[in-house]
Amino acid sequence: MNYQDTLNLIKSRRSLYPAQMDENKSIPEEDIWKLLELANYAPTHKITEPWRFQVYAGEKLIEFYDELIRISSTWMTGEELVKLRKKMDERKSKISHIIVIIMKRDEQERIPVQEEEYATACAVQNILLGMGPLNIIGYWGTGKASFSKEMAEYLVLGPKDKCMGWLQLGVPKILPPDSARRTPGDIKEKVDWK
Ligand SMILES: Cc1cc2nc3c(=O)[nH]c(=O)nc-3n(C[C@H](O)[C@H](O)[C@H](O)COP(=O)(O)O)c2cc1C
Repeated sequence: MNYQDTLNLIKSRRSLYPAQMDENKSIPEEDIWKLLELANYAPTHKITEPWRFQVYAGEKLIEFYDELIRISSTWMTGEELVKLRKKMDERKSKISHIIVIIMKRDEQERIPVQEEEYATACAVQNILLGMGPLNIIGYWGTGKASFSKEMAEYLVLGPKDKCMGWLQLGVPKILPPDSARRTPGDIKEKVDWK
């Protein structure tokens, strides 16, 4: 392993969306397990390993999107809801797997809750970095529904657990050129070297 390989892996990670997915293809189940295996190596204070995942595919994926519409309809109406339904219908055919990201609070509360969220976010980054080499695309999605009490009920979360959104994954149809990659702002402007 060398620095350049690590840099290339990190630089090549990107969020890609349903428009780039092939609706006729699905991700092999063993590749989803490979991603989850990567998640399991995230750093974790006091080894609480707070990351939990729920995987949805096939019928269960359709049920998940229907539930998302139902939850969103508690605050959305009219044109906005019609648009959401249309968007979710597209996803039902394009998305192969959804991985719901859950932070499970340590029962003994040995560390502050933020640390459990940081560790879970690290686990998600491990997954995001593993996607490219497995020819999987997708992105981390969040929003009002993901943080709602209705979603926590649907996912059967404990009172101190938290849904941190979900990864919507698929197989690429067309990949945008590398030149379309976002260039980050200068790191020197984000560092105060004392
Ligand atoms: C915690 C988190 C939540 C995000 N939620 C959304 C989302 O709800 N919808 C969306 O389109 N992208 C979401 N993204 C993806 C960002 O839009 C994406 O990372 C950003 O556009 C930069 O692109 P890149 O990931 O290819 O570098 C989320 C990213 C993170 C880290």
